[in-house]
Amino acid sequence: MRYEQLIYIILAGVMLIFGGISVFYYMKALQNNVRIDQVHSQEKEDFHFVLIPQETDNDYWRLVEKGAREAEEELGVAVEYNGPKKTSVSEHIEWIEKAVAAKVDGIITQGLDEETFAPVINQAIDKGIPVITIDTDAASSKRSAYVGTDNYQAGFLAGQALIQDTGGQANVGIITGSFEARNMQLRVQGFRDAVKNAPGVKILDVRASNITRIQAAEKADEMLSKYSEMDAFFGTSALDSYGIASTVQQRGRTNGVYIIAFDTLPETIELIRDGIIDATVVQKPYKMGYESVRLLTQIGRGKTVEPIHHTGTDILRREDLTRKEPSPEESEGPS
Ligand code: BGC
Repeated sequence: MRYEQLIYIILAGVMLIFGGISVFYYMKALQNNVRIDQVHSQEKEDFHFVLIPQETDNDYWRLVEKGAREAEEELGVAVEYNGPKKTSVSEHIEWIEKAVAAKVDGIITQGLDEETFAPVINQAIDKGIPVITIDTDAASSKRSAYVGTDNYQAGFLAGQALIQDTGGQANVGIITGSFEARNMQLRVQGFRDAVKNAPGVKILDVRASNITRIQAAEKADEMLSKYSEMDAFFGTSALDSYGIASTVQQRGRTNGVYIIAFDTLPETIELIRDGIIDATVVQKPYKMGYESVRLLTQIGRGKTVEPIHHTGTDILRREDLTRKEPSPEESEGPS
């Protein structure tokens, strides 16, 4: 009996020791898992992205920033909004170079003119920093993805709207934000192609505003002096129509001149409501900001993303406005 008891005690002891060892390793494994998760969420919190627009002090870009901030909050990442205060290609490039040197986790910027922007975008990519082009694509660069308007299509839509609204009879002056920026070139090209088959629509002149309302006003004034038959304008960047509208108002020609604008900033909406601007091309800057941060976060987490993300465009006229003043995000319309 005593011998049997001894055997039982030894067996129980062995089982206890094995049980203990198993529990020890199980706990350790659990701990390791928790640590991996923690590192993962820690990394997520640590993402530092930078959004570099061509002009920080511009209401259109403030809307892009707003969308980016929304994603920043939701995803727990950090987004820095920095760049030239007023548009300047050399400063813009410097800001991108600074971001590369600072080894940020991702860059969101425009590919304004491909020759100048592609090399610096490629430099970032080669150093392992993902780049999303926003608003203006540099398709020939190694950028990770593009988020924004299909700019050719947007210009085409503007041309179609002008034909429809003027009954196909218009002598048009185009004010473009810049001759060098790819998005502006595509908008003008899309517009030209749309009106090509409307014999009554003639493009008399194209001038650049350097995306400022003052230069847009000056250029519109010069054109109206030069071409007495000019009776329509197409403004291809957000502030161009403000300048066109103020010139047309100063000349007392609000009834005789058709204006198609770009974007739905509050002042543009007001000018549409007042019947001075006739139509505008709706872009989705807020969505561009949100989507670009969301995609960078996905890339940072090792996911592959589609290269092209068009955010959608539309035409907005006075009759489309509700009584209530739409907020800029609301006026972006459904996605
Ligand atoms: C364009 C931007 C530009 C902005 C200027 C927008 O229509 O998409 O590229 O920076 O106008 O105000």
